[in-house]
Amino acid sequence: MISMKEDIKISRIISTGYLARATMAILLLSLGYTIGLLSSSSSPSRPPNTQLLLHVQSDANPNNCTTLKPDNPPPTPPDLLRFNTKCSEPIPEDQIYRTILDNLWDGVSPYSGFPSPATAEHLLPLSSKPRGWGSTTPVFQDLISAVRPQTIIELGTFLGASALHMAQLTRNISLPSTLILCIDDFRSWPGARRYLHRDLPVPHHADALLLHQFMLAVQNANETHRVLPFPFSTNSALAALCTWGVYGDLIEVDAGHDFHSAWADINMAWAVLRPGGVLFGHDYFTKADNMGVRRAVTLFAKVNGLRVRPHGQHWVLSPKPQLQPQTSR
Ligand SMILES: C[S@@+](CC[C@H](N)C(=O)[O-])C[C@H]1O[C@@H](n2cnc3c(N)ncnc32)[C@H](O)[C@@H]1O
Ligand SMILES: *[C@@H]1O[C@H](CO)[C@@H](O)[C@H](O)[C@H]1NC(C)=O
Ligand SMILES: *[C@@H]1O[C@H](CO)[C@@H](O)[C@H](O)[C@H]1NC(C)=O
Ligand SMILES: *[C@@H]1O[C@H](CO)[C@@H](O)[C@H](O)[C@H]1NC(C)=O
Repeated sequence: MISMKEDIKISRIISTGYLARATMAILLLSLGYTIGLLSSSSSPSRPPNTQLLLHVQSDANPNNCTTLKPDNPPPTPPDLLRFNTKCSEPIPEDQIYRTILDNLWDGVSPYSGFPSPATAEHLLPLSSKPRGWGSTTPVFQDLISAVRPQTIIELGTFLGASALHMAQLTRNISLPSTLILCIDDFRSWPGARRYLHRDLPVPHHADALLLHQFMLAVQNANETHRVLPFPFSTNSALAALCTWGVYGDLIEVDAGHDFHSAWADINMAWAVLRPGGVLFGHDYFTKADNMGVRRAVTLFAKVNGLRVRPHGQHWVLSPKPQLQPQTSR
């Protein structure tokens, strides 16, 4: 029999040894991660240093994700650190609208017959200024005048404050047909109602109705011919655009603000950014910035040899090079 005291002592020894190994593994893990990332952009033919990666495994407690097991790492899947950077050949910009309609709604505009009386009764009266976050700051005006985009892709639209502002800006510089694709799952985020209940319709059978509230604002602004919802997760929407050869001249990132969401959004958006185009986003200098957006932007710029220009609350990356350096990603 082992006494309780000894038991505690033994488990301390085990856990101390374990902690030391765990710490080591974390160090190796971050080292491997860095090497993998850096090598991925500099040496196309050499696979990243994958030996050290993916040691995160369940051990004693299968639910304990912090338990690290440094021995016998499984082979690292090659896509762990890599995003597809090669999308289909671009389709002509004047075919994008039709392509979206055909693929998403059997060729019919989502605004056709909108809103049905059954939907209308759940929506809030139109607000003259929909709730947004830095949605009309000067970065929009500056980038739209500089890029003069024919196609804008927005990740994270909410009620359309920034999208409709961009619509007005393009109209004001004689680009009334610029297409604005609004990628959003139109669910906002869990718990949003607790402080945004005045801005959001009352959910109906668990449907947030954010999509329809947004569409109402677009309709009111007479922009239904070119401000289109793309009501899916950013991940699946960007993958589809990549497959269809739909590129944006200007892409705004303002969806999930944790590191992993921002990192994936930025990488996938870069793939569908037209060479010469500009990628920018929100929350470089707001209280949300340390949730991960700033770290994701900084890392992305570093790995790809780009500059980050802070612009108010926003970040702006240097334009996508016309000739992409050959990488294996
Ligand atoms: C801060 S709001 C966007 C605000 C808007 N750009 C503006 O200026 O008014 C973020 C939006 O991102 C959407 N979102 C968050 N994560 C997402 C994801 N993974 N896929 C699609 N949409 C997402 C939410 O539904 C929410 O509407
Ligand atoms: C998870 O593992 C760590 C490291 O071994 C340990 O310190 C922690 O107490 C474990 N947590 C749980 C919930 O088992
Ligand atoms: C567009 O131009 C009109 C008329 O000059 C002006 O009132 C409006 O503020 C401009 N919109 C934006 C977003 O700059
Ligand atoms: C939209 O079009 C209608 C009908 O042409 C017009 O009465 C209204 O003022 C327009 N709204 C805006 C915001 O331009």
